[in-house]
Amino acid sequence: MEKEKFYITTPIYYPSDKLHIGHSYCTVATDAMARYKRARGYDVMFLTGTDEHGQKIERIAEEKGVSPKEYVDNIVVSVKELWKLMNISYDRYIRTTDDYHIKSVQKIFKALYDKGEIYKSEYEGLYCTPCESFFTEKDLVDGKCPDCGRPVERVKEESYFFRLSKYGDRIIKLLEEHPEFLEPASRRNEMINNFLKPGLTDLCVSRTSFKWGVPVDFDEGHIVYVWIDALSNYITALGYGSDDDSDFKKYWPADVHVVGKEIVRFHTIIWPTMLMALDLPLPKKVFGHGWLIIDGGKMSKSKGNVVDPVILCEKYGVDAIRYFLLREIAFGQDGNFTNEALINRINSDLANDFGNLLSRTVGMIEKYFGGNLPAEQEENPLNEEIRAFAAKTVEKTEEYYDEMLFSDALNEIWGLIRRLNKYIDETSPWILAKSEDKKAELAGIMYVLAEGLRIVSILTEPCMPNTPALCFEQLGITEDTLKVWDSIHGFGLLPKEVSVKKGEVIFPRIDVKKELASIEKEAEKKAKAEEKAAKKAEKQKKKEEAPKEIVIDDFAKVKMKVGVISECKRVENSDKLLVSQVKIGDEARQIVSGVAKWYSPEDMVGRKVIVVTNLKAVKLRDVLSQGMLLAASKGDKLELVSVSDDIPDGADIS
Ligand code: MSP
Repeated sequence: MEKEKFYITTPIYYPSDKLHIGHSYCTVATDAMARYKRARGYDVMFLTGTDEHGQKIERIAEEKGVSPKEYVDNIVVSVKELWKLMNISYDRYIRTTDDYHIKSVQKIFKALYDKGEIYKSEYEGLYCTPCESFFTEKDLVDGKCPDCGRPVERVKEESYFFRLSKYGDRIIKLLEEHPEFLEPASRRNEMINNFLKPGLTDLCVSRTSFKWGVPVDFDEGHIVYVWIDALSNYITALGYGSDDDSDFKKYWPADVHVVGKEIVRFHTIIWPTMLMALDLPLPKKVFGHGWLIIDGGKMSKSKGNVVDPVILCEKYGVDAIRYFLLREIAFGQDGNFTNEALINRINSDLANDFGNLLSRTVGMIEKYFGGNLPAEQEENPLNEEIRAFAAKTVEKTEEYYDEMLFSDALNEIWGLIRRLNKYIDETSPWILAKSEDKKAELAGIMYVLAEGLRIVSILTEPCMPNTPALCFEQLGITEDTLKVWDSIHGFGLLPKEVSVKKGEVIFPRIDVKKELASIEKEAEKKAKAEEKAAKKAEKQKKKEEAPKEIVIDDFAKVKMKVGVISECKRVENSDKLLVSQVKIGDEARQIVSGVAKWYSPEDMVGRKVIVVTNLKAVKLRDVLSQGMLLAASKGDKLELVSVSDDIPDGADIS
């Protein structure tokens, strides 16, 4: 029988120098769902990728002195490394700079234009480059971008527009008639009340002010702007618009687009509208998750509170981090990231509950049975209850996973872990071990624990992909049939003669106090190192900017003359600046110079000086300065350069 398909996507990420743990959150959750569906026998297509175009990338690359493609190529390598480290099992990775994507986007744009869904007009608005967003006057906060607080610029240009406005009613109908299209439910009302009811405006979908993007192939100079490029990835990755669209036919519509709450709007208004305009089926669901918050704000690089997922994974283990992200934060809501919360979860849930259950079980089987359980086993009165508990756990966990409620699913699994730990205390194996005639009952108890652990391991796999193998090894489980999801729908598939092999502690305990102190120390060290590196980079930049060798023509550009200072006084409110009246032959100039530390105004009067005369005039502390005086300096010594009395003012320096 052909497998049922399941197509799941993450947003495509903006390539940023460093992905933070907030980015990983979305991808880890999507990965958990993809793994769960694979375990349940689905033919899964899990898509992720990078959103690589736009003015912001163009500008960053320019600042760094590389081409935009070189810049994004480098970042994509580190993004892929991170996903590898975090065990992200994506099936396909799309880059919006991939040729096939660019061609398909051009086709989509043209198709929409031919259908009259896109038209040419003129756009005027206030634009925030870092956020790549337009705002109206009333959106601004203190005249600045409401998202990042940076200045906006007024931009006017010829643009293509997509007829979003005419689809408002159809989108409202979609959200109202298909509540499952957008989850959690709270986000639905937000979309309807905040965006749809006030009325949609047509969407600007092309730009002429930058080049780094998909060119509109029928109108030179226009670049496809943001959302048509970015959102199309979900179908171009499947070959839509290419010669081979078999994957598109197989996997579209998507079963779920997992997205952060701030981009729900684009996925539930613009995206379905685009698909309607193209006469394509709509995705079945958009799931808008919350944000991982740190220090009270959404984690972001620009806010400087980035938490590095690579460091966290190396320090605590990938599965511990994945567990924390999925357990601590109810999927859909915002959640806090703190080191304390992370360490507490690791200690209580992973080391105490799960790790202990495994090491106690393996330890007891070794101690009481030399590592091998006999086939002869007897029932303990509690066994029936444990079997029923495990069956209920499997059923409830599946329900939660189906709904992408990972925190509830893990809570359910930990219910079974805790029940099994309690079962050890209730059955007191150490007492049974003292009587030879209780050995068979003791063996039966050990079996229940081992089988319980096997079930727990399989249930956790979507969230913690490395952990099951560690448990299986210690429990001596080698048969593949005992490692798959189908094998947990009945309690007792594990053969009675369990053979264990004690291994390393799977989740070591962390000394909270010591760890927090060391984290603080590391953070301080890092901050200092960063400060030092920034200073070094600045110095280096200045050095590089200064031309190494100049030709005589360069030197000839600087015009210098001898002058004599006729008057001089301090610049008001400045302890560094003096303002001098300088006579240069027939000419009189006013020059501000930062020499007050070395010369008093009286020292200056009558002094012969060398003046750069063709320097553009500037105002320093509101005082006009029409040139510059040459000085020699080293360390804290400074002397104005001069000539002897024999040379009159107005003489050329060459
Ligand atoms: N490129 C767009 C998406 C286009 S999809 C057609 C984009 N990129 S992003 O890099 O800014 O964000 C990618 C995802 O990471 C988004 O879903 C965003 O919500 C998520 N997160 C970024 N910071 C986050 C947190 N601090 N917490 C949780 N998710 C966060 O948007």
